[in-house]
Amino acid sequence: MSSPAREPLLAVSDLSIDLTGETVQRGLIHDVTFAVAPGESVALIGESGCGKTMTAMAVLGLLPRGFAVTGGEILLAGRDLLRCSARELRAVRGRTIGAIFQEPMSSLDPTMRVGDQIAEARRLHLGESRRVARVRAKELLDRVGIADAARRLDSYPHELSGGMQQRVMIASAIACDPDLVLADEPTTALDVTIQAEILELLRELRSEQGIAVLLVTHDLGVVADFCDRVVAMYAGTVVERAGVDDLFADPAHPYTRALLDAVPQTGHPRTLLPVIRGRVPAAGHFPAGCRFEPRCAHGGDARCLAPQHETTLAERRTVRCARAADGDPVTRPVATV
Ligand SMILES: Nc1ncnc2c1ncn2[C@@H]1O[C@H](COP(=O)(O)OP(=O)(O)O)[C@@H](O)[C@H]1O
Ligand code: SF4
Ligand SMILES: [Mg+2]
Repeated sequence: MSSPAREPLLAVSDLSIDLTGETVQRGLIHDVTFAVAPGESVALIGESGCGKTMTAMAVLGLLPRGFAVTGGEILLAGRDLLRCSARELRAVRGRTIGAIFQEPMSSLDPTMRVGDQIAEARRLHLGESRRVARVRAKELLDRVGIADAARRLDSYPHELSGGMQQRVMIASAIACDPDLVLADEPTTALDVTIQAEILELLRELRSEQGIAVLLVTHDLGVVADFCDRVVAMYAGTVVERAGVDDLFADPAHPYTRALLDAVPQTGHPRTLLPVIRGRVPAAGHFPAGCRFEPRCAHGGDARCLAPQHETTLAERRTVRCARAADGDPVTRPVATV
C-alpha cells in the first residue's frame, strides 16, 4: 500500500522529551524516530506508560506544562514543527493534522452546538462563509454516519451518545481535509460494535481521501487489521519499527515478541496467556542499560547492561537490542507454564 521511496509526510527524528518543572527527569522520551508516508497508516504500540501519548502530543505541539522537547526534530511535509510559533501550530492542528482522542469531550466544546464547532473550523482555516461552512458541516456529519444530520447540527455534545460524540470528533478532525489524522486510542472507551464501526469509518476515510493515520493503540488486532507499519515503544524509546506483516511474522525485539505472545490466537484457545513479568518502569526509574532488561527473558548478558541504540535491519526496519542486532535468538518463544 505504501511506497518506501515517498517523502515522509511526518518525520520524527531523535525526539527527546524531559520533565523540566520542579522535578527534573531526563530521557522521559528518548531518541524516538519514525516516519509516516502520505496515505500510510502507522501504529504506535506498547503498554500503558510507554510514552505513546507524550510522543503524539509533541507532534501536536500540545505537551503538558512542565514537559519540554530537548532534542530532535519533527518535520511535517518538510516543515519543522518545533520551530513554529504557537499561532502557526494552531493552524497546523486545525488544517493539516486532525486529532482524535479517547475521550471525545476532551476536544469538543460542551457549550457549543456541534454544527457550529465543525463550521467554525472551516471558516477559520479555509475562510468559508457561515452559510457554506454550515452546509459542509452537515455533509461531514452525514459522512461520519450521524443519522438526521441536519437536526443534529444544533445538538450540544452532551445530548449525544458516546459513539455519536466520537463520530462528531472525527467529523471535526477531518473538517478541513487534513493530510494526517492522529488518533490516540480512539475506540478504547467504546463498546465493541461501535469500535468496529469507527474503525471502518477511519478505513473508508483513508481510502477515499488518502488521509495518513498515526494510530496510538494497544490493540494488536486493530494493528493487524488497519495498519501498514508499526512503531513499538517501551519506556519512552522505540524498540522496533517494521512493516506490519514483517512484525507479526518475525518480531525482532524481545518486547515486541512478548506483546505478540500475549494476544490470544484464534483457533488456539489458551487458558494461560504468557504475560510479561513486571511492569513498565515509571519515568525517572529507567535502568541505565537496556530499559527492558529487568523484564527481558533474554537479559543478563553484558551487552544488555549498556544503553541500547537502534540498529537498521532492513529498509524501514529497526531494532533497539544489541543481542538481536548481533543475530542472537532472542525472540524465541518463552516457556510460560
Ligand atoms: N501529566 C503528566 N505528569 C507527569 N508524568 C506524566 C504525565 N503524563 C504522562 N506522564 C508519564 O510519562 C510517561 C509516558 O506516558 P504516556 O505518554 O501517557 O504513555 P502511554 O500513552 O504510552 O500510556 C509515563 O511514565 C507517565 O507516567
Ligand atoms: S538488549 Fe538484552 S535485555 Fe534488552 S531487549 Fe535485548 S536481549 Fe533483552
Ligand atoms: Mg496514552
